[in-house]
Amino acid sequence: MKNYVILSGAGLSAESGLATFRDSGGLWEGHDPMAVATPEAFARDPDLVQRFYNERRAGLLGAKPNAAHKALAKFEQEIATKGGTVLLVTQNVDDLLERAGAKNILHMHGELFKIRCTQCHDHFLWKQDLSTQTPCPSCKAQSLRPAIVWFGEMPLYMEEIERALLKADLFISIGTSGSVYPAAGFVDMARARGTDCIELNLEPSDNHHLFTKTIYGPAGDIVPRWVEEELKGI
Ligand code: APR
Repeated sequence: MKNYVILSGAGLSAESGLATFRDSGGLWEGHDPMAVATPEAFARDPDLVQRFYNERRAGLLGAKPNAAHKALAKFEQEIATKGGTVLLVTQNVDDLLERAGAKNILHMHGELFKIRCTQCHDHFLWKQDLSTQTPCPSCKAQSLRPAIVWFGEMPLYMEEIERALLKADLFISIGTSGSVYPAAGFVDMARARGTDCIELNLEPSDNHHLFTKTIYGPAGDIVPRWVEEELKGI
């Protein structure tokens, strides 16, 4: 039975109404990402950054998983019943894969519904607004920030992801522009071991030429179709 690693990016959640990063003339929800998603931006204007993430949290509360999230959750369950494994590695900070019922998920860029304290380092589930004055539930310091990996910070779970890539029989990349490392390098790592790699995206990504197979269209159409085909073939 096969082991799958499935990387996803913003394109997976686009049809749930969540904006991608690079499809609107370099602006992300009307902001330059460097002004809201870097440690330097947070140091310079923490109120702006907190407001930006408060808006993203409120937007996510109103969003729902789409057909692609649901298909991936079904795929994970079906493959598990057949003795295989599926690791869902996502660059997305939303919880739509979880809400679709998927379990084996690594959020390499953090999670929107989590915050952390920069003093005591505790993490908290957080769906409401956050401000620079909100006290940490543990240590009471006013040092809370979104548990998001900003530009210039280290992505999470890299060792687990690399281990999974080493034993993967198939690597699938869904809805990502392939422009942000280290995620954009996973296809190289997989190909170096001779692993087949499939790209499912709206349009060819920056590294589409590295994939052994490519399928283009909206994720809500092509992901459920790919899942059905793959399940038929095993
Ligand atoms: N279906 C499939 N793919 C889509 C859809 C859709 N409905 N809509 C857009 N796409 C594709 C775009 O063609 C693009 O290639 O999704 C990709 C989105 O690319 P980006 O906006 O660059 O998002 P992503 O690759 O996830 O960005 C990576 O960059 O800003 C950082 O940390 C942030 O996790 C993010 C990382």
